[in-house]
Amino acid sequence: MPAERGIAEAAAVLRAGGLVAFPTETVYGLGANALDSRAAARIFAAKARPTFDPLITHLADAADLPALVGALPPAVAALAERFWPGPLTLLVDRPAVIPPIVTSGLDTMAVRVPDETSARALIRAAGVPVAAPSANRFGQLSPTRAEHVVRGLGAAVDVVLDGGPTRCGIESTIVDARGPYPVVLRLGALPVEDLVAALGPVTVRAGNSGQPVAPGTLAAHYAPRTPLRLLRDAGAPPADGIRRGLLAFRDRPADGYAAVQVLSPAGDLTEAAAQLFDALHRLDAAGVTEILAEPAPDEGIGRAINDRLGRAAATWSPAG
Ligand code: TXA
Ligand code: MG
Repeated sequence: MPAERGIAEAAAVLRAGGLVAFPTETVYGLGANALDSRAAARIFAAKARPTFDPLITHLADAADLPALVGALPPAVAALAERFWPGPLTLLVDRPAVIPPIVTSGLDTMAVRVPDETSARALIRAAGVPVAAPSANRFGQLSPTRAEHVVRGLGAAVDVVLDGGPTRCGIESTIVDARGPYPVVLRLGALPVEDLVAALGPVTVRAGNSGQPVAPGTLAAHYAPRTPLRLLRDAGAPPADGIRRGLLAFRDRPADGYAAVQVLSPAGDLTEAAAQLFDALHRLDAAGVTEILAEPAPDEGIGRAINDRLGRAAATWSPAG
């Protein structure tokens, strides 16, 4: 149902322990009452998500955070003040009212205030913090449209609010700013350059790991079903009869490809990020044997695009 109209009903579903998929400026979230361990458990079941992968808690307003967790470390407070509402997730100490299932037993909690009016209205109307991962099955492409949610999760969700395509198209940047040296745990829609401008130097530790701090950093993640290869300057494909899809960063010749998605004709990074997951969803549905993807320029939000493409490619095995 349209996001603006369904808010009161969806808020009631959240309060009653149900699951509501809702748009944020990054991707669609699968929300549950973060104070209710049974509601949170339903998120893990609906996504087939391993319980070691903690959820992000969403608040309606930055002012609600101290009320939930008490005084904030100075850099956390400064980042919240500067970038909320917005695509930045911050780590704080988990307060006792948040059940451990939400944080997968960690003593830290990831939290953000989304820059999407309907999302904040929903959280405010529910009157509780809302735990919400991306509204896709674990490891698969994130949803940037309501129809992606319906296709991926279907009946596992009680309500899907439709706010149209999301503005950023890529998940929030996750930062641990509790200590003296801020650490980026996941590259995302808020460019690292913006963090550096606000904080000075930051450490980026958003690489691959088997036992990740943030499981969005698992080597193989955000993956289409079709094998994907990352190729700089992918030329024309060999004429071997294999149907290939091309994910192009900007306008380019694409003869010989069975399906083509261009992230941004003029090569604009923000537009490319907004199109990324939708383009991958489309190529996945195009009946091609493999997808060749060109990386974006490695700057600003382009880093997060390349991070996602690298993880999507990590499931590809040359042995087939
Ligand atoms: O943009 C976003 O962040 C979207 C929208 C819905 O807000 N949400 C999202 O959630 O991307 P999800 O679950 O797909 O990714 C959350 C990431 C995971 O990689 C998880 O491991 C990490 O946040 N995370 C959550 N709590 C954490 C914690 N306490 N410490 C480190 N990483 C944490
Ligand atoms: Mg996700």
